[in-house]
Amino acid sequence: MKRLLLLVLLALTVKFSTALYEFQSCTKEVKEIKKPELCKITKFKANASTPNAAKFYECVLSRLEYYNHRDKELYQNGEYIARGLSRFGMSKEDALKAIKKCKDSSSGGAVTPIGYVLCLLKDGKTKNSFQQLMKSRDEDFFKSQCKK
Ligand SMILES: *[C@@H]1O[C@H](CO)[C@@H](O)[C@H](O)[C@H]1NC(C)=O
Repeated sequence: MKRLLLLVLLALTVKFSTALYEFQSCTKEVKEIKKPELCKITKFKANASTPNAAKFYECVLSRLEYYNHRDKELYQNGEYIARGLSRFGMSKEDALKAIKKCKDSSSGGAVTPIGYVLCLLKDGKTKNSFQQLMKSRDEDFFKSQCKK
C-alpha cells in the first residue's frame, strides 16, 4: 500500500515536472530557434515569417495540450484553450466564438498552431486574455529572452 502511494506520487511528480514550463521546454525541443526570435515571441511580435516560430508554437500549444498534432486540430474544438482564456477576463463562450472565427477564416484548410496564435492576437476580444494566459504558463521564459 505504501509502495503504491509512493509510485502514485512519483508519477504525479513526473507528470507535473514535464507539464510545467512549456515555453522553456520548447526552447530545448526546437533547438534551431535563436534568441532574437524568442525575444519576439515574448513580445507577441513573432509572425509566420519569423524563423522557426511556427515550429515553436506548435511545440508550445501541443505541450499545453491545446493542440493535437496528430489530428492537426485543437483539442475538443478549442474547449481547453477557451477554458484557459476564460481565466483571464473573458467568457468561455466568447473565447469559443473567437476560436471558431479563426477556423472559419481559414477557408477550409486546417489552421496551424501559429495561425491560431496570430488570429487570437489580432482579435481585440481575445488579445489580452491570450497574452496573459501564455505568460501565466511560464513567467520566467517571458522575462528572460530579451537579455543578452
Ligand atoms: C512579420 O513581421 C515583420 C516585422 O517584424 C514584418 O516586416 C512582416 O511584414 C511580417 N510578415 C507577415 C507575413 O505578416
